[in-house]
Amino acid sequence: METKNLFNLEGKTAIITGGANGIGKGACEILAQHGANVIIADLNINDAKNTAEEINNSFGKNLAIATECNVLKDEDLVNLVNLAKSEFGRVDILVNNAGGGGAGRENPFKISVDDFARVFQLNVFSSWRLSQLCAQEMKKNAYGSIINISSMSSINKSPNISAYASSKAAINHMTANLAFDYGPFGIRVNAIGPGATKTHALSTVLTPEIEEKMLKGTPIKRLGEVSDIAGAILYFASPISEWVSGQILFVNGGGVQTLD
Ligand SMILES: NC(=O)c1ccc[n+]([C@@H]2O[C@H](COP(=O)([O-])OP(=O)(O)OC[C@H]3O[C@@H](n4cnc5c(N)ncnc54)[C@H](O)[C@@H]3O)[C@@H](O)[C@H]2O)c1
Repeated sequence: METKNLFNLEGKTAIITGGANGIGKGACEILAQHGANVIIADLNINDAKNTAEEINNSFGKNLAIATECNVLKDEDLVNLVNLAKSEFGRVDILVNNAGGGGAGRENPFKISVDDFARVFQLNVFSSWRLSQLCAQEMKKNAYGSIINISSMSSINKSPNISAYASSKAAINHMTANLAFDYGPFGIRVNAIGPGATKTHALSTVLTPEIEEKMLKGTPIKRLGEVSDIAGAILYFASPISEWVSGQILFVNGGGVQTLD
């Protein structure tokens, strides 16, 4: 078996939301490294442009495009898929990565229904909608891989994080069910549940005390790096996982990290 082809993404087009920084940036880099064209869709257009430039410089070809996109706006999601079609003619891989909220700071007595709904809008509804738009394109080639970025919070139980944690749990179940909807069209749907991973988002809540406690619950004695999560994204994006769908892969050093 020629194993190197199992990670070959040449000729494929990937959309990565929140691709300018953190885990999304790691996804853009690793997918481009394996030959994919990547569309870096981010709220922060300056960072997205910088990431695209870094990728294009390091691979010596124009593999990456930056575009401003707020995943909360339906119009932006529609434009994003149209851009992929006009620039590269197809969509093969979608990484629903933009997300957030909570950060262990939700006061259950004060959080409003609107706040709760916003977290679901960002983490669940936008991913569902962009999956729908991309699946329409993927089915034309009977080929696609949708990768949703969930979280360890989707299965952990902790205080002050009920909106974020339940939205990520919804992503897990959405993933498993969409795998049934889109599977017959050659489209796989999987999710990754990162443990605590060193990004800007984590740095806003991490203290030395919290890190020490996290490491006590983690057999592999370090926090996650973006490259750890990017490796799992490459696996789901590539032909090597072509009979894997509906799965949630937790990448967490074998342990549990919580913010409390
Ligand atoms: N870092 C962790 O420890 C961790 C753990 C579990 C899950 N996650 C999940 O991983 C994903 C990425 O997190 P990260 O830590 O890399 O974050 P990050 O803050 O480092 O990067 C997030 C990127 O998303 C962009 N973004 C934010 N809102 C957006 C929107 N509405 N539309 C488009 N782009 C938007 C930001 O501009 C930024 O470039 C999130 O879904 C998060 O819930 C992270």
